[in-house]
Amino acid sequence: MPTPDAITVAVNGQPLQVARGTTAAAAFALASAPCRLSTTGDPRSGVCGMGICFECRAIVDGVRHVRTCQLPCYDGMKLETQQ
Ligand code: FES
Repeated sequence: MPTPDAITVAVNGQPLQVARGTTAAAAFALASAPCRLSTTGDPRSGVCGMGICFECRAIVDGVRHVRTCQLPCYDGMKLETQQ
C-alpha cells in the first residue's frame, strides 16, 4: 500500500516507489541499477554526492548527462542508466 509521501519513478522501465525527497541517484541504488556504464562497460554510480565528480550522470526523462546526486525525484520521473 502506498504511503502518503511516496511517489513512483521508473528506473530502466521498472516502476519504483520512493519517499518524496529521495534523490535520483538514491533511486538508482534502491533499484540496484548503476547510473551509467563507463566506456569499458563498468557500472558507475555517485561518489561525491555533492555535484562535483560527475559519476552519477544518467538519463533523466530522455536528457543525457544529468547529475542525479542532487536531483530530487518527482512523480513520473523516468531514470535510465546511461551507456
Ligand atoms: S555523485 Fe558526484 S556529481 Fe553526483
